[in-house]
Amino acid sequence: MRILVTGGAGFIGSHVVDAYLESGHDVAVIDTLATGREAYVDPRARLYRVDVASPAVAEVFAQEGPEILNHHAAQASVSVSVKEPVEDARVNALGTINLLEQAVRVGVRRVIFASTGGALYGEPEHIPALEDHPVRPLSPYGTSKYVGELYLGLYRRLHGLRSFILRYANVFGPRQDPFGEAGVVAIFAAAMLAGRAPTIFGDGTQTRDFVYVEDVARANLLATEGDEEGAVHIATGVETTVNEIHQRLATLTGHAAPPAYGPPREGEVYRIALDPTEAARTLGWRPQVDLQAGLQRTAEWFRGR
Ligand SMILES: NC(=O)c1ccc[n+]([C@@H]2O[C@H](COP(=O)([O-])OP(=O)(O)OC[C@H]3O[C@@H](n4cnc5c(N)ncnc54)[C@H](O)[C@@H]3O)[C@@H](O)[C@H]2O)c1
Repeated sequence: MRILVTGGAGFIGSHVVDAYLESGHDVAVIDTLATGREAYVDPRARLYRVDVASPAVAEVFAQEGPEILNHHAAQASVSVSVKEPVEDARVNALGTINLLEQAVRVGVRRVIFASTGGALYGEPEHIPALEDHPVRPLSPYGTSKYVGELYLGLYRRLHGLRSFILRYANVFGPRQDPFGEAGVVAIFAAAMLAGRAPTIFGDGTQTRDFVYVEDVARANLLATEGDEEGAVHIATGVETTVNEIHQRLATLTGHAAPPAYGPPREGEVYRIALDPTEAARTLGWRPQVDLQAGLQRTAEWFRGR
């Protein structure tokens, strides 16, 4: 299939591109390289340096004629969204609408949308949270991603555009930006390997649900090649504290210094884990790389750099 991947030079998007190419699909990428890197894009994929919110995406759609739109481009940081909510909405909300308009225009068959489970529900009422948990984000980011989901629903009703929504937990693995404001595993691993003590925001007892990036890429492949519609968690259902991540990575990297602690960050939830049962039911997807194996591979990758 001809697949257009937005954000395909980014952390998760570039793994999705790799998975598509490996399965024999034809891939083009839209990415401004705002946080992504050209070096992460397999040369077999055609890269367009275009902003998803700009009119120039129309030319890319016209030229590529994609059958599938896989939308990963985003302002993907919770803390940046709190500081710059207008820019966050421009990219995540307007950018998504702009792409959906083009998708309808060229007759895209199916849209795969990278959404968030971790930033959608606020402090969850139940852990692990189910997909029908009330939506009450604590950040502009969680809100703008949900707006994207709402427009997907609208374009289904208005234009018959089919779509599948993947609500990710905390994704980690090789290529995650260690200098960004999100991505605790990458930030800790890179700091420890450079001999620096990473800072934990809050007391480190906050929990996240960590899912390995190759498992996430496989979920994209299954969602693309299947025909179901819906929204599912791509997650493990398991809570892990930030302190435990620190401890495991310290052991893997031989880092001895204790962490520094700083004030908790605005807009972030305290505890979260997402129930992945629905993904197993609709996609036949289950995580395959456990936390320790994923941390090991990630630490190895950062060591190699
Ligand atoms: N990393 C996670 O744990 C996580 C969790 C839930 C959802 N997500 C979602 O997954 C997607 C990918 O996130 P990521 O962690 O790989 O982040 P990332 O920052 O590495 O990827 C985003 C990509 O989009 C590109 N981009 C940014 N603004 C753009 C614009 N206006 N036009 C075109 N390209 C633009 C960036 O250059 C980058 O390559 C995002 O949609 C994010 O919301 C990520």
